[in-house]
Amino acid sequence: MPNVLNEYKLELFEKKMVDLSNSFLEKTAPNPTVLASGFMGVTGLSLASAAAHGAGMVTIKSLSLEPRKGHKTPVIVGFEAGLLNAVGLSNPGVVNGVEELKVAKKKAGVPVIASVFADTAENFAKAAAAVMPAEPDFLEIDISCPNVDSEFGIPFAADPGAAADVTKACKKVIGSVPLIVKLSPNVAAIAPVAKSVEAAGADALDCINTLKGMVIDPVARRPVLTNKFGGVSGPALKPVAIRCVYECYKAVKIPIIGTGGVTTGKDAVEMMMAGASAVGVGSALYYRGLDAFKLIAGEMKDFMKSEGFKSPRDLVGLAHEN
Ligand SMILES: Cc1cc2nc3c(=O)[nH]c(=O)nc-3n(C[C@H](O)[C@H](O)[C@H](O)COP(=O)(O)O)c2cc1C
Repeated sequence: MPNVLNEYKLELFEKKMVDLSNSFLEKTAPNPTVLASGFMGVTGLSLASAAAHGAGMVTIKSLSLEPRKGHKTPVIVGFEAGLLNAVGLSNPGVVNGVEELKVAKKKAGVPVIASVFADTAENFAKAAAAVMPAEPDFLEIDISCPNVDSEFGIPFAADPGAAADVTKACKKVIGSVPLIVKLSPNVAAIAPVAKSVEAAGADALDCINTLKGMVIDPVARRPVLTNKFGGVSGPALKPVAIRCVYECYKAVKIPIIGTGGVTTGKDAVEMMMAGASAVGVGSALYYRGLDAFKLIAGEMKDFMKSEGFKSPRDLVGLAHEN
């Protein structure tokens, strides 16, 4: 005879069992959070530190063929609902960066994402090839930085054809390493860009980079940043990122890292329900410190427990079903 009480207890126990481990393109991470590019610099040890603080995967700051100083300060300012930055992609270049990626691969203990950017499709491919000796788990291409227009022109992510050209050029030189293409919200329609890079061979998308903006100091009567324009990140970006992920999820079959304004576990859940299979965390480090990863993952777990979800994959795309 079935013991109804035991069955009921078992059901309750199973409801409480939440496993946050997350698979992304066949790599397993301890949870769905991903350190977004640009927040813990370019050293292997800082990426390992992010992992030790709970990041499920880590992305290095984007690397270029040659070292870059970036823009003159001030390069970042906080405002009511986020950050505005125009760092100008300062980095030590791929030759130094590849050594740091090797350290990250040894010490982080979670999947490591290399990130590169360049001024032409050909140079993108050169930078991509240059980081391969570190054997990153993924390569991300930053075709969407809004802060370097004056130097590089309109980002490749603004045009489906140009975005596809860079995707194809990089795919050719990275063997079996999966390619993530980072898209921009600074477009009239993001879905055609997503479709175009998918057709060109992208294995995943990262949605989104920062949204172009400006903050003015009314006393100085001029923009605060030396570059005048910058990229908006943090809470103000979240609804834009959720919308972009939602539109891309509808348009493509490849998985998406949802990045933009994720500060709490509830934000991460929203992002996954919009269609993300992993969740980028950047500006949250400014608001919540390095513990942001653990806090976000813990809050996700609490939500999932109370709503009866067992795995992050059960959340992906749920907002499309209603
Ligand atoms: C200071 C700063 C530096 C960044 N550097 C890069 C970068 O090098 N490469 C890149 O792809 N994105 C870069 N980003 C964009 C972030 O990776 C992320 O897409 C964006 O900040 C939105 O996420 P968030 O709201 O969680 O910060 C940078 C953002 C900030 C604020």
